[in-house]
Amino acid sequence: MPLYVKELFKSYGKTVAVRGISFTAHEGKVFGLLGPNGAGKTTTLKIIATVLKPDSGSVFLNDTEVINDPERAREYISYVPEDAGTYRNLTGYEHLTFAATVYAKNEKEYDEFLEDGIKIADLGDKIHDKTKSYSKGMKRRLQIARALMIKPRLAVLDEPTAGIDVFHAINIRNIIKDFAVKNSSIVIVSSHNMFEVEKLCDEIGIINEGVLLKVGSVKEIKGNSQDLEEVFIKLAKGDQTEPQKGEIKG
Ligand SMILES: Nc1ncnc2c1ncn2[C@@H]1O[C@H](COP(=O)(O)OP(=O)(O)O)[C@@H](O)[C@H]1O
Ligand SMILES: [Mg+2]
Repeated sequence: MPLYVKELFKSYGKTVAVRGISFTAHEGKVFGLLGPNGAGKTTTLKIIATVLKPDSGSVFLNDTEVINDPERAREYISYVPEDAGTYRNLTGYEHLTFAATVYAKNEKEYDEFLEDGIKIADLGDKIHDKTKSYSKGMKRRLQIARALMIKPRLAVLDEPTAGIDVFHAINIRNIIKDFAVKNSSIVIVSSHNMFEVEKLCDEIGIINEGVLLKVGSVKEIKGNSQDLEEVFIKLAKGDQTEPQKGEIKG
């Protein structure tokens, strides 16, 4: 079953961060929220991952209304925040064994989770070093490994390749795509990188100032435009110069 996001609204004091976001993300596919800094990507992902309550709106996953039943929803969801931290004095391996212990139903699954996690993290011998010696990119890979190895129904990854070098970013993108297809899981990522989103995502939602300007496949969104950058600029401009549906031109 797909993930349904309906009419999310969220303000922080006077700042309206998210104003009526709705979209559907499908199994076996990667959905990308693409937009500039401050667009509302992180706020939207936090709401879906149950770490932030919206002012209104709903999220449906597997018969669960995520916002009203976060405990149940968390059984299906893995979330990697934008600024995910690690425990400095634990090794990468210890982070993975901890997650495997929490989520595995039996010894066989524990071994599978751990083996997968080590593969995804791709840290070589450094997996046995304390994470305080890791670079930002190494920590990022460890977090993604921890999130995906347990095979969640829904993985929510906020800027998954931020701070990762080109070679590892390619590798991580392949891992995320494979993960979605092999497990028929739903993956939602955010990014401000148009190139990345085009490579990684099956479907895209272009977000600006808390509004989803357009949702569709990469092909649909690109249309006759050369690249996503051109699409974004056209959409962002159109948003300012053309009246909204139902709005009276004055
Ligand atoms: N905790 C917060 N308190 C106040 N304002 C916030 C907070 N988090 C985000 N915002 C504001 O909400 C808007 C959307 O932010 P965010 O969801 O982080 O966007 P993005 O991830 O696309 O950069 C921005 O204007 C940001 O400054
Ligand atoms: Mg963000």
